Amino acid sequence: MLNEKVEQKLNEQIQKEFFSSYLYLSMEAYFKSVDLDGFANWYHIQAQEERDHAMKIYNYIDYVGGRIRLLPIQAPKGEYKSVREVLEDTLAHERMVTQSIYDIVDVAREHKDHKTDYFMQWYVKEQVEEENNSESNIKKLKISGEEGSGLFILDAEMGKRVYVPTPTGFDDGE
Ligand code: FEO
Repeated sequence: MLNEKVEQKLNEQIQKEFFSSYLYLSMEAYFKSVDLDGFANWYHIQAQEERDHAMKIYNYIDYVGGRIRLLPIQAPKGEYKSVREVLEDTLAHERMVTQSIYDIVDVAREHKDHKTDYFMQWYVKEQVEEENNSESNIKKLKISGEEGSGLFILDAEMGKRVYVPTPTGFDDGE
């Protein structure tokens, strides 16, 4: 059983995570268009992770007897002027997602929904990492510069990221 308000918030978060995946695919497409294949790889993996984040909530709602309701996903921004713009948009987006996660925890606590509170702590932790990665990429870009050999080296580093699937069960011991 799941409180109606909590269930609604969780369904909205599925939408936000899938939108995040869509957004990062759009950013990947930008990097492909300017031949920064390493950045494109990094964002491709980021998009895959966001799909995992969505599916983890999807599975949770069903697991606790709630009703999954998929909501429309809007088109993401499609054009970017620079690498910096993409990285700054990423950080702003992740900060927004963090607030959304905190909001679900607040609503779960308000309704004494301890299981959802417990479940969402995985996301609280994950968002620390997400913001940290986004900030770190901006710092690296400041060091490398936005063109020339510095950017070439950074692109190569971004190309080394490897996709590690996020377990999407209720409690995967993470
Ligand atoms: Fe699903 Fe980027 O947090």
